[in-house]
Amino acid sequence: MVAEPISTTKERQGTARSARQRVFSGIQPSGNFHLGNYLGAIRNWVRQQDEYDNFFCIVDLHALSLPITAEAMRSNILNLASVLLASGLTPEKSVIFVQSDVHEHAELCWLLNSVTQFGELRRMTQFKDKAGNNVEGISAALFDYPVLMAADIILYDANLVPVGEDQKQHLELTRDVATRFNQRYGETFVIPEPDIKETGARIMSLDDPTKKMSKSSANPASYIALSDTPDVIRKKIKRAVTDSGTEIRATPDKPALTNLLTIFSLVADEQIQVLEERYDGKGYGQFKSDLAEATVQAIQPIQERLAEFEAHPNEVRAILARGAAQARAVAAPKMAKVKSRMGLGSGA
Ligand code: AMP
Ligand code: TRP
Repeated sequence: MVAEPISTTKERQGTARSARQRVFSGIQPSGNFHLGNYLGAIRNWVRQQDEYDNFFCIVDLHALSLPITAEAMRSNILNLASVLLASGLTPEKSVIFVQSDVHEHAELCWLLNSVTQFGELRRMTQFKDKAGNNVEGISAALFDYPVLMAADIILYDANLVPVGEDQKQHLELTRDVATRFNQRYGETFVIPEPDIKETGARIMSLDDPTKKMSKSSANPASYIALSDTPDVIRKKIKRAVTDSGTEIRATPDKPALTNLLTIFSLVADEQIQVLEERYDGKGYGQFKSDLAEATVQAIQPIQERLAEFEAHPNEVRAILARGAAQARAVAAPKMAKVKSRMGLGSGA
């Protein structure tokens, strides 16, 4: 078989790409990547990679909204990039880049601030949760965070935004802001749709099934980190809280079992109902030990690939640099159009 000339292949890919729906999503380089991030977001990004024209962004500017040192930021960015690649994102199918490498994100955020209302931002539940009772002391960046997120998405005219359930309200705000801009300045942005899966969109804490699994939790036993060893994973699952009674069922009165069955279903790729039948009449002990093994099986291959990427940081950096160049090629002309719509600049 004779290989096709490269230009032909590229042209064909170009046509196929532009006909596809565009996906944009982001994740913060703010520390411990956990099973909730993987099952609620990244796993879906990887699975849908072939279907869409994808942009995945390590949102370092968002991570500035809570205190973080330069050293931690630097190492978190590289580590998260390695995690995304080890999870199965590939630069052949997706543009993978760091937000601050493309200055248009911050620039568009400022412009969108002018079409966002103070009251809209004050109502954001993530802001209220993260600010807690320290509203006076938190950074203005934490307050403005959703506008930067809106900028990320609409800068690329993304159609679909695959995220966990916790981001739904931010997506609604993004749609409102983009719609308002279009009304004021003429059709400029695509209005994006959230892509939130029914199963796994909200993985809960192992120690409290009423709270979402979160990397900022003070109790490491509440989450499974990608960096946990098999033994630590087994221990955490063994200690995970359960509900009263003995039945292994995903019902509203059994939030802890529902969460564990959800995790099991996703890591083992089996229906919750099938698992309920398999463990009917069996004890929590067997169920938890099988769940632990299935979780280890799902995480171990990622850990192995992660070690390889970590051994080659310059390759990871090169992938991010190429990704940034591809992202800029879309962001720069879009930004020029937005500025012109708003009458900004000298016109030179
Ligand atoms: P973050 O770590 O906040 O940048 O979130 C990255 C992605 O993971 C977002 O799409 C979140 O919606 C998703 N995510 C975070 N925590 C969870 C969770 N406990 N369950 C499901 N998805 C989550
Ligand atoms: N706010 C998101 C989170 O905490 C991260 C994020 C930033 C994002 N920009 C985005 C997600 C754009 C989707 C699209 O999870």
